[in-house]
Amino acid sequence: MPVARTRSVALLGLAGSIVEVEADLSAQLPAFIIIGLPDAALGEARDRVRAAAVNAGCPLPQRRLTVNLSPAALPKHGSGFDLAIAVACLAAAGEISSESVERVVHLGELGLDGRLRPIDGILPAVLAAVRAGYDTVMVPAANADEARLVPGVAVLGVASLLDAAVHHGGVFDSRVFEPVPAPDRADPDDRLGEPVGDLADVAGNDSAVEALLAAAAGGHHVFLLGPPGAGKTMLASRLPGILPDLDAEEALEVASLRSLAGRPPRSGLSRRPPFEAPHHTATAAAMVGGGSRLIRPGAAARASHGVLFLDEAPEFPSAVLDVLRQPLESGTVAIHRANAVASFPARFQLVLAANPCPCGNHGSKAIDCTCPPAARRRYLARISGPLLDRLDVQLWVPRITAAGLRVAAEQPGVSTAVARERVIEARARAARRLRGTPWRTNAQMPGPWLRGAGGLHPGGRATADLDRALELGGVTMRGYDRILKVSWTLADLEGASAPGLEHVGRALFLRKGLQP
Ligand SMILES: Nc1ncnc2c1ncn2[C@@H]1O[C@H](COP(=O)(O)OP(=O)(O)O)[C@@H](O)[C@H]1O
Ligand SMILES: [Mg+2]
Repeated sequence: MPVARTRSVALLGLAGSIVEVEADLSAQLPAFIIIGLPDAALGEARDRVRAAAVNAGCPLPQRRLTVNLSPAALPKHGSGFDLAIAVACLAAAGEISSESVERVVHLGELGLDGRLRPIDGILPAVLAAVRAGYDTVMVPAANADEARLVPGVAVLGVASLLDAAVHHGGVFDSRVFEPVPAPDRADPDDRLGEPVGDLADVAGNDSAVEALLAAAAGGHHVFLLGPPGAGKTMLASRLPGILPDLDAEEALEVASLRSLAGRPPRSGLSRRPPFEAPHHTATAAAMVGGGSRLIRPGAAARASHGVLFLDEAPEFPSAVLDVLRQPLESGTVAIHRANAVASFPARFQLVLAANPCPCGNHGSKAIDCTCPPAARRRYLARISGPLLDRLDVQLWVPRITAAGLRVAAEQPGVSTAVARERVIEARARAARRLRGTPWRTNAQMPGPWLRGAGGLHPGGRATADLDRALELGGVTMRGYDRILKVSWTLADLEGASAPGLEHVGRALFLRKGLQP
């Protein structure tokens, strides 16, 4: 069998495409040629594959081997094609079964010692294989558990090229290879699915807790402004806990993004929404993603279906804040490369927290603010108008007073579990109302639709205060629409059939409450 073929997967962003790997053996002088637009890493594959085959105990024939990766126009990055190239060559040489090799999608990098090394992005690659109609994948042993998270696929985890060759019917001297373990990249900031604390820990601060519930129920972005120590960070970190579980597809997408980021799920698929809190020293690339070989998702993409929290938001360079405008607009981030555009989903809930001024004391009754007024204005102006405008809920969070603490001690706050139930019910109500539209949450409804074709303007008396605020210039038209959306969310949280005067009033407060 002089020509043999198998398949692998090329990833561009989260999207995987099947790559056909064809090997041809001819009776000319020994050579090993790989064609099909390989990048530098693929060029190196030639040397890696040859050495690995020798050291695994199943050497390639000393004749002319030509390997073609197609479609040629598809950008192919990384070293995950090694295994497919090696088995295609062994099949072309007649050492292993061509039929067996052809049916399996092969993913994995070879080490010079003949062992298979785990690669990042196994989950999206296996998903792509399954969606293209393949039902069996062969992956490095350390990636096997991750690959098995994809439903409906048979996973062959192998430690070495020899194991792969033996699986495909090769007969070689038997040797035992210790599998290469997954790299230990435990990330102390990796808080996916782990509860950080209960909502009931928040004493008092009822408005802020209400704002958090509304944000979770309606999918609204939030801006929390207040002095240091008011509990802004504490509040934001409790938002993922009150969001509903992800559905199976969302959970797979979240896990796929983490797999590409080199932080694959360790213990099964988590249904909990992710929480990403990049530090204010993060670069624009850290926010959207990048990298030269495998393009890795940044914080905005990793926060998909969860929460992106920017603490001390004015400390972020404005260029970094501005890259968030594209994902907020479209729900995706695009990363441009010379010959391709990688795109990642980036549909997250944004929470910004900020002190009111550099010293943090502006608005405090007890301590005087030492910032010059101009410095204070400049500080918050770093959060640009277009970004601020997307934050439906904007709230001043005061420091809790001793008296407030005493009151709070007698009335325990709402727990995360109870809040989540309320959020789930409110979301279900909104989803029922929005059935037949492209939107699922109140935050997604376009304002003109809401007031127009949607017929969701509560009308009459309910919006009297809001209408007056619009007339007096206290809110803009955009702000008006956002307040209407939050009113619907507050009504959903209470099980009301439509927002009343009280809901609109609370929504107005949750939007315009930026003053101490
Ligand atoms: N309302 C509150 N209830 C309980 N603890 C609070 C409250 N506000 C602040 N704290 C405590 O103060 C600490 C600092 O709060 P933090 O969230 O970091 O404030 P901020 O981010 O506004 O500066 C928290 O760890 C928490 O223990
Ligand atoms: Mg803080």
